[in-house]
Amino acid sequence: MKDRAEASDPADAEFNTDAAAGEPVIGRAVIGQRWDAAAYAEKGRFVADLAGDVVELLAPRAGEAILDLGCGDGALTERIAATGAMMTGADSSAAMVSAARARGLNVLDVSGDALPFDREFDAVFSNAALHWMPNAEAVIAGVYRALKPGGRIVAEMGGHGNIAAIRTALQAVLAQFGIDAEAIAASFYPSPEHYRRLLEAAGFTVRSIALIPRPTPLPHGMDAWLNTFRNGVLDLLAPADRAKAVAETVALLTPMLRDADGNWTADYVRLRFSAARD
Ligand code: BEZ
Repeated sequence: MKDRAEASDPADAEFNTDAAAGEPVIGRAVIGQRWDAAAYAEKGRFVADLAGDVVELLAPRAGEAILDLGCGDGALTERIAATGAMMTGADSSAAMVSAARARGLNVLDVSGDALPFDREFDAVFSNAALHWMPNAEAVIAGVYRALKPGGRIVAEMGGHGNIAAIRTALQAVLAQFGIDAEAIAASFYPSPEHYRRLLEAAGFTVRSIALIPRPTPLPHGMDAWLNTFRNGVLDLLAPADRAKAVAETVALLTPMLRDADGNWTADYVRLRFSAARD
């Protein structure tokens, strides 16, 4: 799931006292995202539920060896395994690795930019994970090495413009606390042109690559989304400031992303692609 924040352990700190004291945290260690398997299972299940199109593009076949890169809690890995494909998961969050292993899956606790495989897989699959891996050249090189000649990568990730309204609102609100939310989130949302260049530079032949706007209903609302998917940055705040920051962000976003019936929709933009190793 995540692939950064190794420089610090956010689980050790309920909140960052420097930020809470109003000191700027820009330029300090990236905190990144803290993954909580139970919260994710409750509030983030829609991520796997919406992966039907990219799984269709993968078209897994029985007996194929497939690596699920950034497998998270393994919900989608398990679903693909039901097709008869031989699945291996990889994730760098210990919490997610143990949740995925609890499903009986074979999962490696490994960073996406240090994949240890050599021509082992017919396909590498990834859903909603590559945007947590800003060291994209190293990730792509590792994927290339992991594939057998003729193998493919099929993936979907946040693309250019992803959750722009949410990011802008959070950036504005957290600036008041001296926090550069974008720098700390350190997400990677490339355009198709950018990612194509990276894939081709690594030796891949791109079969398809496109941005797909996908307005995404948030059944648990914006407050839950922020506390599930932006807890790395929100953990920098003392509890009272955190509640204030979340409330202000939700208020800013209400006219944009909440409809007249109170339903929230996030402005997701996916980058979906398929590329082959020659
Ligand atoms: C995404 O899938 O694009 C995403 C999910 C959570 C936070 C940020 C982006």
